[in-house]
Amino acid sequence: MTRLSVHSAAAPFPPLRATSDFTAIVAELSLVGVLFERWATTVGLPADADAETVLAAYAKPVDYLRRARGYQTVDVAKIPRGAENADAVRAKFLSEHTHCEDEARFFVEGSGCFYLRDGDQVLAVACEAGDLLLIPAGARHWFDMGPNPYFTAIRFFTQPQGWVAEFTGDKIADSFPPFDTGAP
Ligand SMILES: [Fe+2]
Repeated sequence: MTRLSVHSAAAPFPPLRATSDFTAIVAELSLVGVLFERWATTVGLPADADAETVLAAYAKPVDYLRRARGYQTVDVAKIPRGAENADAVRAKFLSEHTHCEDEARFFVEGSGCFYLRDGDQVLAVACEAGDLLLIPAGARHWFDMGPNPYFTAIRFFTQPQGWVAEFTGDKIADSFPPFDTGAP
């Protein structure tokens, strides 16, 4: 179940509040400029579906979002269970960073947690299959896929060459426990 928790940046635990209510999550995230939607997941998509098959299954909502937001390209990021390079892939986005364009991601399967920095607070959004999260360009955040990563996500890009993480150098992410070994 998708879960949102709001933390003090200086003293992350216990969280200030937490919810799994869809409407409440949408409302909290909208206050920090983050769009959260839930799309119907396609039944019967094979576990080994390739990128073309995944994109075909979600062609309508993907096309809608591309038109609405002007995204030029999409791709499919897939981390299978037990992936050999999981630790390295996970480490890539574990520190606070920004991008010069939106980070827009739809979870086809699996899960991952985005941590959104808003001044002296951090909003942690543990996403699951069916969740679309759109973090605006320039917003401070980090992403933890947990110690046993597993997800397939459709990613949207404004610039054809994609985006690069610009790390802030702030160590705030170190004060939060790993995604699936504690709250959130
Ligand atoms: Fe990012």
